[in-house]
Amino acid sequence: ALERTLSIIKPDATKRNLTGKINAVFEGAGLRIVAQKRIQLTEKQAGAFYAVHKERPFYGSLVSSMIAEPVVVQVLQGENAVAKNREVMGATNPADAAEGTVRKLFAESIEANSVHGSDSLENAKNEISFFFAETEILP
Ligand code: CMP
Repeated sequence: ALERTLSIIKPDATKRNLTGKINAVFEGAGLRIVAQKRIQLTEKQAGAFYAVHKERPFYGSLVSSMIAEPVVVQVLQGENAVAKNREVMGATNPADAAEGTVRKLFAESIEANSVHGSDSLENAKNEISFFFAETEILP
């Protein structure tokens, strides 16, 4: 089915000027960028976005890393976009990521792993509405 998913190009990648190269991987895989903006997350926003990880030992460090530089938040649309984006991103830990995936190509570490993508259709809907009004999404 035609789906939308939320993608974030993280600070480690925006800092290294990789936004275009990462977008080229998404577009090459048939994902369409139907909304996109470069923003500076606040600590409060990053903490709320990753609230599900609040009890994890890496939560504080994750939130700090997400506010270190601007991020690019985007909505990707396509057939099975949620699963397709997860395939294109590769494993969370770049050491485990398959050849040709964004994380294999660009990520530095499990934390500085260059991209975030929604892990389910339900989370995608919530994560998209966290950053975008429906009027900002232009398929
Ligand atoms: P992301 O897909 O954005 O979802 C949560 C993030 O937490 C994940 O990517 C990683 O950047 C980070 N993360 C997950 N597991 C670990 C870990 N074991 N140590 C540090 N960071 C982690």
